[in-house]
Amino acid sequence: RNPSVRMELGNEYQIKKQTHMKTILITGGAGFIGSHVIRRMVTFHPETRVLNLDQLTYAGNLENLKDIENAPNYQFIRGDICNTAFLERLFQDYEIDGVIHLAAESHVDRSIADPMAFINTNIVGTVNLLNACRGAWKDLSTKLFYHISTDEVYGSLGKDGLFTEETAYDPRSPYSASKASSDHLVRAYYHTYGMPVVISNCSNNYGPNQFPEKLIPLAIHNILNMKPIPIYGKGENIRDWLYVEDHASAIELIFSRGVHGRTYNIGGLNEWTNIDLIRLLCRIMDEKLERVPGTSEKLITFVKDRAGHDLRYAIDSTRIEEELNWKPSLTFEQGLARTVEWYLQNIAWMENVTSGAYQSYYRTQYEER
Ligand code: NAD
Ligand code: DAU
Repeated sequence: RNPSVRMELGNEYQIKKQTHMKTILITGGAGFIGSHVIRRMVTFHPETRVLNLDQLTYAGNLENLKDIENAPNYQFIRGDICNTAFLERLFQDYEIDGVIHLAAESHVDRSIADPMAFINTNIVGTVNLLNACRGAWKDLSTKLFYHISTDEVYGSLGKDGLFTEETAYDPRSPYSASKASSDHLVRAYYHTYGMPVVISNCSNNYGPNQFPEKLIPLAIHNILNMKPIPIYGKGENIRDWLYVEDHASAIELIFSRGVHGRTYNIGGLNEWTNIDLIRLLCRIMDEKLERVPGTSEKLITFVKDRAGHDLRYAIDSTRIEEELNWKPSLTFEQGLARTVEWYLQNIAWMENVTSGAYQSYYRTQYEER
């Protein structure tokens, strides 16, 4: 692998191959975070066979994986985790040793408009996967089911404090309630059936391949096109931002060395109010686009607040730092500059997504199984 690809992938850790890493199933690999996890596992673990199971909903885009699609240890399978007959066949056709489960409906605003898709995919789909593992796995000691979750399950913080792994669950949106339910079910399978599981709860990710419905890519798109940047309420809500490759490196570590039955919080210790973050992004974009300073900030438009908008998220990631020696590789300024650079160099990607062209191309290539 060329060294610049390795550099883009961020921290590299020495990982001893485990039995559950022979053939792994990664769900949601065509989405934002999943595509980075797939690239990392395919690149750093050539001995591991990586299966990417994705339904290709509006959020799935195989263009995210063009550079590794012909790698000998990679295979794409189109399918729906809500389809139990399909999952049963899949686990018969392949001897799957480990699962990294990312497939989900992920956007809070969509969950407010239409909760049912979140209940189906995030809750029922997760249980379907757990059942498929239970049905197929005879020797549980060689297997692992890893559920990727969110800090939103913990609810909303006031001005002080951090979410730890012991913070009580208090989800407030249909999205976070569906992720909390799936976390509980994963733990229930650990206690009831002895299913080997790990869970991680991460803060807000940003970086290449993120769908432009989320704050940062939406703002980059609108600044590029001189359109209004919608800020909910007064822009005082706080999020803790982590570069997506740093999340992917944490996932790789937890998958290979995490203690079964345990939860790991992952965050960047990098809190920003939405308005401060957007002002910083406007300054970076003016510089990169060689616009008069202040041009992009004029696009900021305050709009009606999100219903039940959580005030603040912030993560204490001491456990993963101390137990697994993980830390983020980039500062926020480096990560944001890299992100903006990627979107500017991949304007065709953004146009394919906003026009919807990406959907017809791959959906006709891959039949759903
Ligand atoms: P995303 O929306 O970009 O991607 C989700 C992927 O899942 C898509 O490729 C989609 O096609 C696939 N998918 C959806 N429904 C499916 C189904 N029924 N069957 C098979 N595939 C299906 O999501 P993301 O932002 O990459 O998030 C990935 C995971 O990480 C989610 O579980 C999310 O809850 C969690 N997470 C996200 C963040 C974040 O900041 N984005 C932070 C913490 C945790
Ligand atoms: O914390 C982790 C979560 O982060 C993940 O679990 C979710 O999958 C992911 O979508 C993200 O949720 P948020 O709701 O925090 O992300 P979003 O980008 O939608 O919004 C970030 C903040 O910006 C939030 O306070 C709402 C605000 N916002 C968002 C949009 C889309 C705006 O002010 N304007 C907007 O147009």
